[in-house]
Amino acid sequence: MKKLLFLLLLVVATDVFAKGDDPYMGIIPAPVSIKKFKGEFKLTSETLVLTDSGEHKAIKFFARYLKKTGLGGSITDINVFDKNHRNIKNSITVVTNFTGDLPPEGYELTVDGDHVVLHGRGPGLFYGIQTLVQLIQYKPGASSAAIPFVAIMDYPRFGYRGMHLDVARHFFDVDFVKKYLDLMAAYKLNTFHWHLSDDQGWRIEIKKYPKLTEVGSMRAQTKIGRAGIDTGLYDNTPYGGFYTQEQIQEVVAYASERYITVVPEIDMPGHSMAAIAAYPELSCDPTKSYKVAETWGGFTDNVLCPTEENFKMIDEILQEVLGLFPGKYMHVGGDECNKTAWKASEFCRQLIIDRELKDENGLQSYFISRIERFVNSQGHSIIGWDEILEGGLAPNATVMSWRGEAGGIAAAKQGHDVIMSPGTAGMYFDHAQSKSTQEPLSIGGFAPLAKTYKYDPVPSELSRDEQKHIIGVQGNLWTEYIATPEKAEYMLLPRMLALAEVAWTPTANKNYKNFSEERVPHNLARLEVQGYNFRVPVAIGAEDTVISKAKYNADLQPSVEGATIHYTIDGYAPRETDVPYIAPLEIVVPDKKTIDFKTIVVTPSGKRSIVTDTKIEN
Ligand code: ACM
Repeated sequence: MKKLLFLLLLVVATDVFAKGDDPYMGIIPAPVSIKKFKGEFKLTSETLVLTDSGEHKAIKFFARYLKKTGLGGSITDINVFDKNHRNIKNSITVVTNFTGDLPPEGYELTVDGDHVVLHGRGPGLFYGIQTLVQLIQYKPGASSAAIPFVAIMDYPRFGYRGMHLDVARHFFDVDFVKKYLDLMAAYKLNTFHWHLSDDQGWRIEIKKYPKLTEVGSMRAQTKIGRAGIDTGLYDNTPYGGFYTQEQIQEVVAYASERYITVVPEIDMPGHSMAAIAAYPELSCDPTKSYKVAETWGGFTDNVLCPTEENFKMIDEILQEVLGLFPGKYMHVGGDECNKTAWKASEFCRQLIIDRELKDENGLQSYFISRIERFVNSQGHSIIGWDEILEGGLAPNATVMSWRGEAGGIAAAKQGHDVIMSPGTAGMYFDHAQSKSTQEPLSIGGFAPLAKTYKYDPVPSELSRDEQKHIIGVQGNLWTEYIATPEKAEYMLLPRMLALAEVAWTPTANKNYKNFSEERVPHNLARLEVQGYNFRVPVAIGAEDTVISKAKYNADLQPSVEGATIHYTIDGYAPRETDVPYIAPLEIVVPDKKTIDFKTIVVTPSGKRSIVTDTKIEN
């Protein structure tokens, strides 16, 4: 305690939380062009919403928003928009004509004087509404809201802006999937990659093969702890879940209302233990007994056997799947296919000879090409993980590059379309968000927000023409270690906001400091009100480090608007009952002493950041 006598804490300034002049006005993803003006439009129940397209999904979305918030007045479908409508005071006009030379998915939004005017091309109108909603300074319960004057012209960098969800390792119900889609739509992501089958569970009802869900959707228990570590521990609790075809249709329709296309993934030929447990004849050795996997990681007997009977069955399964998903793409997996069972199979050895294939990689290529032929015959195209390059690409396949960018680069050079999703560049949201031991169990890896943000999906080693094959980018959320919606949101946010900016914003407009210090805090505060969980970033300016100094100036800002930073200097982990940080501090450390300056951020709803520890040694 004596030590404290030597300690001097000085308040050196007061207005520390004054917001910077955010050029992007809090909008994520940052738009292509934005001009701010002084003044505000006031949205009230008197405000008229005029549109030439009352049935447009953007209008329906906006009408729901106005109803939910209690803001804004009636929506009038004026059928044909006429420039004179701009003379109507206190109005918001949302129109599909006058799109001029806007690029696909583009929009123009102006807020000035008595008018808000939004033009959009196709989905662009919907994205303009998302921007408008982000600009509305709404406080729950208020009868009016301000919209700052602004002129925005905007369109996306990539046509494919994806977010993935693994529902096989852990199952997430329809309500959660809709909440996930809401989040994607708010940040202008347009493709939902739904990983519906894996070793640990089959999650989509197939009427012709009911055992896929009767047997394949249930595992008897789940390993406790990480893959690769033999804990010998299981939770002794049966686990399962699947979507009926009606539920799948409900999700697809919900997504479509938000301009999101759903890409179903049935992972083949590996990762198929759940399907094999249901129908052992799908394996190369049907005499063995199989069960839905209860552990994580790889398996040696989870591969489908490429017999004609199996291709027939797979085609029938895919026919049902494709009937539920109107989008262009079907994802056929292709990753991490363990060839052990193929190597041991006399049938496979003979097939390799008969088809003049080089080896088991050639067999995988043959397998994927057969599946592609069927998928193409149904009017759809395949996407596969980058392993589908091994042994030769199927003719029309799009490659999803996850093991770094090499697969994507090779595919683009061969003239194939590519979606970049490298785990090494922050696109795997099951990776840890910091190196702290306070982070929850994850698969490992390291994908802090800055890494996700800084990713550029277009490799410079590709020529201009080859670069055109990079059609987009995707974040992946694998769920071995994510058993609850709350943890899924914790892993997703705020990284998904960074992904949105990678996918939408021109590189020249990206700015990590502005993103992480201005717009993320603003958006996290909004997301908290909307009921999302997220990882609370540590206080801006706080760091885990050791500093040799007699005096340390702590100059911090909350990482979430409206949150409070608490700190300790007594060595204990701070909590909400500790001293709030309200202004910069000068911490003076006596000679040959050390002070631990520890901080935590606590949001209005009580979400907490991890604790940072700055050791100041003198
Ligand atoms: C993957 O992460 N296995 C595609």
